[in-house]
Amino acid sequence: MTFALKIKNLSKSFVMHILNDKKINALFDLNFEINKCEIVGLTGKSGSGKSTLIKCIYRTYLTTSGQIIYNSEKFGEIDLVTADDNEVLTLRRSEITYCSQFLKVIPRVSAVDVVGESLVVRGSSWEFARERSREYLSQLGLAEELWDAYPSTFSGGEQQRINVARAIIAKPNFLLIDEPTASLDQKTKDVVIDMIVQLKQEGTSVLCISHDQYTIEKMTDRVIELKEGKIVSVPII
Ligand SMILES: Nc1ncnc2c1ncn2[C@@H]1O[C@H](COP(=O)(O)OP(=O)(O)OP(=O)(O)O)[C@@H](O)[C@H]1O
Ligand SMILES: [Mg+2]
Repeated sequence: MTFALKIKNLSKSFVMHILNDKKINALFDLNFEINKCEIVGLTGKSGSGKSTLIKCIYRTYLTTSGQIIYNSEKFGEIDLVTADDNEVLTLRRSEITYCSQFLKVIPRVSAVDVVGESLVVRGSSWEFARERSREYLSQLGLAEELWDAYPSTFSGGEQQRINVARAIIAKPNFLLIDEPTASLDQKTKDVVIDMIVQLKQEGTSVLCISHDQYTIEKMTDRVIELKEGKIVSVPII
């Protein structure tokens, strides 16, 4: 089976300068692989290091030690720890998307354009991007009168749907996603799960943080559990 991502001896610590350089060890010597077209769930208690791991992979955080080997279409095998900034930006634009738990609201940009922009940066026309964006917003049950409104005033669940649509509309090779179904009703939760499973069928590999047992059971092929920054279980499929 071809791998999509290989994590080798990854550790991450934070040095808090305002606390006399106090060191917080967030991740310890992690080793695991994610295969192509596999959906891996990432679980564990609050503070166990889940978001830190995803942010190290997306290079929002610099890894302290270890390797994150990503199997890129453009670059071949590339270590995301040592890749230069241009390579990371290229990968973010063309292969890897990250969906955080909360939408980073862009002032005075409509919901349709927030989602559509994700396709425009990958070379689509605005006309095509807006058309696709409306399809996603419709499938996700966002009221039509909100499509041209600014998401800054939207409810938590409405913002989350914008965020999820923005990350998956681009059909990335690799999707990092943090709590995609947390504040959604059952029907919308099922739509999001189906959309992510559909992406997998089209070739996307996924690492998905979720506390929601239903989402984990319905969507993932296997689960990695973190406890205090260490992997406690990697069940074989
Ligand atoms: N930027 C940062 N600076 C300092 N410490 C951080 C930073 N980001 C995370 N940490 C610390 O790393 C540890 C892991 O945090 P992380 O956010 O990864 O947990 P989590 O598993 O995502 O929790 P939750 O389920 O609550 O989102 C925590 O002790 C946290 O305080
Ligand atoms: Mg988190």
